Amino acid sequence: MRPIKSTINPLSEPFQSNYAANSSSIEKLKSQLADSTKGGGEQYVKRHLARGRLLPRERIEMLLDEGSFFLEIAPLAGVGIQNEFVGAGVVGGVGLVSGRECVIIANEATVKGGAVSEIGQLKNRRLSDVATQNYLPSITLVESAGADLPVQAKIFVPGGRGFREITRRSKLRIPSISVVFGNSTAGGAYLPGMSDYVVMVRNQAQVFLGGPPLVKMATGEVVDEESLGGAEMHSRVSGLSDYLAENELDGLRIARDIVSHFADTPWKRRPRPVEPPLYPSDELLGIASADIRVPFEVREVIARIVDGSRFDEFKARYGTTLVTGFACVHGMQVGILANNGVLMSESAAKGAQFIQLCNQQDIPLIFLQNITGFMVGRGYEEQGIIRNGAKLINAVSNSTVPAVTIMIGGSYGAGNYAMCGRAYEPRFLFSWPNHRIAVMGPQQLSGVMDIIKREAAAKAGIAPDEDKLRAAKQALELQIEQESDVYFATARLWDDGVIDPRDTRTVLAISLSAACNRPVEGTMKWGVFRH
Ligand code: COA
Repeated sequence: MRPIKSTINPLSEPFQSNYAANSSSIEKLKSQLADSTKGGGEQYVKRHLARGRLLPRERIEMLLDEGSFFLEIAPLAGVGIQNEFVGAGVVGGVGLVSGRECVIIANEATVKGGAVSEIGQLKNRRLSDVATQNYLPSITLVESAGADLPVQAKIFVPGGRGFREITRRSKLRIPSISVVFGNSTAGGAYLPGMSDYVVMVRNQAQVFLGGPPLVKMATGEVVDEESLGGAEMHSRVSGLSDYLAENELDGLRIARDIVSHFADTPWKRRPRPVEPPLYPSDELLGIASADIRVPFEVREVIARIVDGSRFDEFKARYGTTLVTGFACVHGMQVGILANNGVLMSESAAKGAQFIQLCNQQDIPLIFLQNITGFMVGRGYEEQGIIRNGAKLINAVSNSTVPAVTIMIGGSYGAGNYAMCGRAYEPRFLFSWPNHRIAVMGPQQLSGVMDIIKREAAAKAGIAPDEDKLRAAKQALELQIEQESDVYFATARLWDDGVIDPRDTRTVLAISLSAACNRPVEGTMKWGVFRH
């Protein structure tokens, strides 16, 4: 495979201005990420530490293998949302435990006693999906006041799904471990209740359906917390706990020992020798347009992500607005689909063909999304843009190889779907800070609504009120602008996190390696259709 030859000029004005703007976006990202580590604030953190307990990130660090990565999922969930803390009261991600890639979920006990908020539930659900979709064992570090009671109406009914998923994973031979460090009440009691392995920490874990006050109210029985649901009782009497840990570190050690018994994953392909890219990842900051309305050459991005910058481009001269081809990332073979302009009929059909080729050879897919949508207009409709777009969406939907999507710019309209947006269940999806997402751009959307309102007024024979229309258009444009922001998206779990573009290669490598824990189903029932 030949390397891509870069043609960028780091001294050019566009490179320099993109570099400056993207660097300042990264400073903002760093400060948001720093906020996500503060839990419920100083007062609650102090109280937690005074009780001799470890913070969730410390527990995770002690659980992980020495030198392991930790690919954090949705660290900025909840950011900017009323009644939510940055991180949504839970810390989670993928890391190595006893040599196995595992999903780790830790309640943040300093945030509302570890209660699960509305966005916290979405994040738990996403972490559960990461475990299920990639066949990863899960380890939950439990210390939770259960449901966030004032918002129970938003979480009670969907909340049941998490418990169902644990046991469905068990049926798929994907084990789960709960290590209980503190309170685990009511619904929360089913976390250990449904897990395959339960570890409880002596004098700390308290697991019951209802605490002493509730028991007294319900039956008149007076009982203390330890007798009702302490680690000792559950290990010796009820049998809910399989292992009694002497302290927090002992609990984490036991969890590591349990993982060391899990079966290997022999179907994972052995990686090829790893070559670094020929060009520095730092240049990505000068390449990616800070203003997503300005297009940029996606091969320059690929050249800074893949091994040896080598890229075997497929159908290079056909449907050129979608770049497709084969490469390796940290020795793992991949097929890449990357936008280089608006999606046309030929580019969509080419994408569908390429996805089939990758499925035929069990090659994972990487989508690099920077898409304003499909081409519109009479001629394009006549050529069948919907029909060809449908082929790509069909191929993306039914592809069974793992896919990882990186939002490297805009994501608008059906382009989001065709390029494996969130609804198409890529195994992982991360965004660069310049990412914007919406059904269409704010100006276009408010312009469309303006035309619709004018036409409605004309049909009703009413003269348009120009002042009112202008104000409505401005307000809508501002609203869509805010809703298109990368932090609006990541707060609501539309992605798995915002990353520094320079970390893309590492993030892709961890994601791909984690995704390959699941054997490929190989469900192709037809040969590859040539388009
Ligand atoms: N929902 C919403 N907020 C909750 C909460 C819940 N389930 N549980 C606790 N909180 C809040 C508290 O009101 C308190 O807020 P404040 O500091 O603004 O007053 C904060 O979280 C910390 O709670 P606190 O009780 O001081 O913490 P603690 O560490 O001493 O005790 C618990 C933690 C979990 C033992 C205790 O809060 C508790 O028993 N909570 C209720 C558990 C329960 O019955 N859940 C049923 C869920 S279905």
